[in-house]
Amino acid sequence: MPLLDIRNLSIEFDSPHGRIRAVDRVNLSINPGEILGLVGESGSGKSLVAKAIMGILNDRWHVSADRLRYNGVDLLSLSAKERRKLMGREIAMVFQEPKSSLDPNDTVGHQLHESLPTDECKVSFFQQKKWRNERIRGLLHQVGIRDHERVMKSYPHELSEGVCQKVMIAMTIAYKPRLLIADEPTTVIEAGAQAQIFKLFRKLNQLNEVSILLITHDLEHVESWTESITVMYCGQTVESGLTKHIFKQPFHPYTMALLQSMPHFDEMLGHKSQLTTLSGCVPSLQHLPIGCRLGPRCPRAQRKCVQVPQMQKSRGHYFSCHFPLIDDEEPS
Ligand SMILES: Nc1ncnc2c1ncn2[C@@H]1O[C@H](COP(=O)(O)OP(=O)(O)OP(=O)(O)O)[C@@H](O)[C@H]1O
Ligand code: SF4
Ligand SMILES: [Mg+2]
Repeated sequence: MPLLDIRNLSIEFDSPHGRIRAVDRVNLSINPGEILGLVGESGSGKSLVAKAIMGILNDRWHVSADRLRYNGVDLLSLSAKERRKLMGREIAMVFQEPKSSLDPNDTVGHQLHESLPTDECKVSFFQQKKWRNERIRGLLHQVGIRDHERVMKSYPHELSEGVCQKVMIAMTIAYKPRLLIADEPTTVIEAGAQAQIFKLFRKLNQLNEVSILLITHDLEHVESWTESITVMYCGQTVESGLTKHIFKQPFHPYTMALLQSMPHFDEMLGHKSQLTTLSGCVPSLQHLPIGCRLGPRCPRAQRKCVQVPQMQKSRGHYFSCHFPLIDDEEPS
C-alpha cells in the first residue's frame, strides 16, 4: 500500500474573476521508503500540492480529491485537530520560504527546543536541559551549522536565508517523520552544503525508511536522488514514471524541453551558448489556452491539441499528450 496516495487532487480559490483552479486533477503516489521528485516551472502548482497534503492552506482555498490518503487514512475526512496531530507526528515539511516559516519573535534555539519530541528524552528532569542542548547541537551539526551558540541565540532576521533553511531542516528531522516534504530545500543554501543536506536526506531514507517528496527546479538533484518523478505544467501532471526511464526517454514534449534545458557538462558547449528552452511563458491561470495547456508553446502542437489530452500509459510512463515522443519501432 502506498504511504501517500493522491488521486485527482484539485485546488481552487475564489477571485474577482470567479473560481480559479490552480491545481487540476493531480495524481501522486509515494511508497514507504521511496524518494519522489516533483518538478515543473515556477507557478506550476508544486507548493500548493505540498501545502494541500499538509492541510495548511487557508479557508480561501478549496481542496478536493477522489483520494487523499496517508497510510490508508483519508486526510480530507479528519478534523483540523486530528490532521495537526498526524502532521506533527508523521509528516514534516521543509518550506520554500524558510524565514517566513520561522517565528520572528523567538530565538532559533528556543524554537529548536520546542520542536524536539518530548517522548525522546529519557533522562531525569534535572538533566533534560543539558540533554536538549546537546541534541540541538547534534542536529545543527548534521545540517552543516558549526557556530551553534551564535545561531541558537539569534532571531531569524539576524540569520541568512541559507542558515534559516538549515535550521528548518534540523527541526523537521528532529522528530523523525515517516514522510518528509522538502520544497526547494537547498535553493538558498551554498553549493558546498547542498551535498551534505542531500546526504542527510539519503541517510534518513536508507536508515529510517523515510519517504521523501522532493520539490525542486534542480533536475540534476532529481536525477541523482529520486527513484520516481512527476512533472507538472500549469497545475496539471503531464508525465510521471521512474526517473531513470524518463531521463532516458521522456514522452511528453514539456518533459523533453525541461531535460534539454539542463546543462550537460560532458558535451562541448560553445562560449556563451544558450541552453535550449521553450519559447513563451507559463500562461496565467485566468487565461488558460483551450485544450492542451502547453499548446501555444509546444513545438509538436497540431490541430488535435485543442482537445484536452487524456492521461495514458505506455512502457511504465504516464503522460498526457496527443503526439508523444514515442519511438514506434521500440517494442512496447
Ligand atoms: N496565495 C495565492 N494567491 C493567489 N494565487 C496563488 C497563491 N499562491 C499560489 N498562487 C498561484 O497558484 C499557482 C501555483 O503556485 P505554486 O506556488 O504552487 O507554484 P510552484 O510550482 O510552487 O512555483 P515555484 O517553483 O515558483 O515555487 C501560481 O499560478 C500562483 O500564482
Ligand atoms: S497535446 Fe499537443 S500541444 Fe500538448 S504537449 Fe502534446 S503535442 Fe504538444
Ligand atoms: Mg513553490
